[in-house]
Amino acid sequence: MAATHTYLTGIQTSGEPHIGNYVGAIKPALAAAESSDTLYFLADYHALNSVKDPAKLRHSIRSVAATWLACGLDPERTVLYRQSSVPEVFELATILSSITSKGLMNRAHAYKAARDRNAAAGNEDLDAGVNMGLFNYPILMAADILIMAADRVPVGRDQVQHIEYTADIAGTFNHLYGESYTFPIPEGVYPEGEASILPGVDGRKMSKSYDNHIPLFLPENKLKKLVRRIPTDSTPVEDPKDPDTSVVFQLLAQFADAERTAAIRKRLEAGGMGWGELKNELFEVLNAELTPLRERYEALMHPDSELDAILAAGAVRARERARGVLSRVRAAVGID
Ligand code: TRP
Repeated sequence: MAATHTYLTGIQTSGEPHIGNYVGAIKPALAAAESSDTLYFLADYHALNSVKDPAKLRHSIRSVAATWLACGLDPERTVLYRQSSVPEVFELATILSSITSKGLMNRAHAYKAARDRNAAAGNEDLDAGVNMGLFNYPILMAADILIMAADRVPVGRDQVQHIEYTADIAGTFNHLYGESYTFPIPEGVYPEGEASILPGVDGRKMSKSYDNHIPLFLPENKLKKLVRRIPTDSTPVEDPKDPDTSVVFQLLAQFADAERTAAIRKRLEAGGMGWGELKNELFEVLNAELTPLRERYEALMHPDSELDAILAAGAVRARERARGVLSRVRAAVGID
């Protein structure tokens, strides 16, 4: 029998998703849900570290949930829930804190980066502006994963250290209490190669921090304008063009089917197809794929939509699973 894995990932509830997230994270996660057990949650307590505006946080929790559902997440198949709906996470985080060395946290990239920034700014207090939420972040993330006894964690490469820390903390627990309960040691599942990294409109990796992104649910007219504004060189219409150095073509290749992509490649290489026409093609394929998603998203964002009921049902399933693990962990440590 094939080994079965439980996939779990946390989705940040800050900011609006862009088409780079859609291709690089959302689509692969939905594909994984076809064949594996999947638990996807909204990391709202993690978000609280950076989002201090309650209305904004509230909005982004619903918005991120609506995004995943609009993109095709099936809440029967995947357990979709809010981290804040599962208090067992926080109880486990406290237990894990008792077996995690402070030194490990001192070496965490995000924390070290904050200290480096203070040092560079000549600030004597290297911990200035660092709150305990940031410092404890890796422990909370370990609790997110271990409370569900998940063994596969699809994340970006920037999360490698967090996964290593989780494995490390789970190992410590197993070493101490393994006679009564052992956590599966989780492994990260990272995107392979560059295929799923989309260029932004300026040719660099698409990222909100570069402000070169194409938001996923842009209204049609704005999407059209944004695509039209992607910079191109001044090669005349009749001249041959290199599709592989064109951002517009690379984006098109992610959304058009293989046949259409190949036909357009040929026309660019032969000459006679201008950038303007290529942009029209890109807008068309993007809009065709995104229009139904945008409509579902808008419907789900309505206050009376089924969104809240879906999250409530996910919370029930998630808690049931978490309670099972937590009661065994409590018994293992002697708090039962
Ligand atoms: N740290 C992750 C990120 O920034 C989000 C996250 C929180 C997460 N808890 C998690 C991811 C648990 C996977 C598993 O993207």
